[in-house]
Amino acid sequence: MPDAAGPTDALAFTPDIARATAPIYDRMKRVVPAIEWPFHAPLIHAINKLKRDRNAVILAHNYQTPEIFHGVADIVGDSLALAAKATQTDADVIVVAGVHFMAETAKLLNPAKTVLIPSRNAGCSLADSITAADVRLLREAHPGVPVIAYVNTSAEVKAEVDICCTSGNAVEVVESLGVDRVLFLPDEYLAKYVATQTTVEIIAWKGHCEVHERFTGAEITDFRNRFDRLTVIAHPECPPDVLAAADFVGSTARMIDFVGTEKPPRVLMVTECSMSDNVAAASPDTEFVRPCNLCPHMKTVTLASILDSLQTLEPRVEIAPDLAARARRSVERMLAVKPK
Ligand code: 13P
Ligand code: SF4
Repeated sequence: MPDAAGPTDALAFTPDIARATAPIYDRMKRVVPAIEWPFHAPLIHAINKLKRDRNAVILAHNYQTPEIFHGVADIVGDSLALAAKATQTDADVIVVAGVHFMAETAKLLNPAKTVLIPSRNAGCSLADSITAADVRLLREAHPGVPVIAYVNTSAEVKAEVDICCTSGNAVEVVESLGVDRVLFLPDEYLAKYVATQTTVEIIAWKGHCEVHERFTGAEITDFRNRFDRLTVIAHPECPPDVLAAADFVGSTARMIDFVGTEKPPRVLMVTECSMSDNVAAASPDTEFVRPCNLCPHMKTVTLASILDSLQTLEPRVEIAPDLAARARRSVERMLAVKPK
């Protein structure tokens, strides 16, 4: 039955869209099979057009899929880079292709802008592992000890602490306080890693990332036995036996920089699995060995949900002004700490 063009027609893979998106596909052709491109290209084309119409910018975490990371993102990076760059945009609308705590951080730093999180289900096991009431109890149990919160926490938790940190600046933040002892929450394994890098005593909460806690030291040994000349680089959210077996430990941005500068012939990135795809797309001389642990929260953000979010300007991140003011202070204190 003849009909006006509906949403499905608008998202057809026409010759015009194929031509317009060909340079974008070129950036990810090493990791996105050609058979998938007709599904992604119309969405990418529509998102990039709507972004211009809305004066919107898309911030994407390194764990987003290659079609988001290389196809529609304006700014990509680790949690620290996304927070820092969120302060520098003059866009009216910020879409966070990441998880909820990242979108909250962007909103804290841009209270007057519209901040969108395309999936209401994009949570985080670390952020869920601690509440504001837990922080108040910790303070009672350890009077006078400063509290550092990983950015993987809710705005309510950020409002209760002294300063935030990310995996990219945790050691610098701990040492910036000039004290002998700190409370560090909620990631136990990141806390343990930081304790190996400083003389400051670290009192840790026992939260874990559900993606990184699944890696084991035995698994790393097994990979080393199976692959010659393997360089192992790991995220500090991994358990201590994994970090002990790694050649390099760092935030997602530092892992990417390591591959870019060291150019290892064969690398195992012990972290969320989309990141290997994103880096592999631009690293033709390195072979990526992948233990594939996906973050189910990150994966609830898709091209379709980003397009829907830009069309409807929902779901928006809203934070009550009093709470936002207290949480913002912790994030801004972190951003003022000089990197090493
Ligand atoms: P970074 O990108 O800051 O290293 O964080 C990793 C992570 O798990 C974010 O959810
Ligand atoms: Fe949270 Fe881990 Fe997923 Fe990052 S990878 S969002 S820390 S559950």
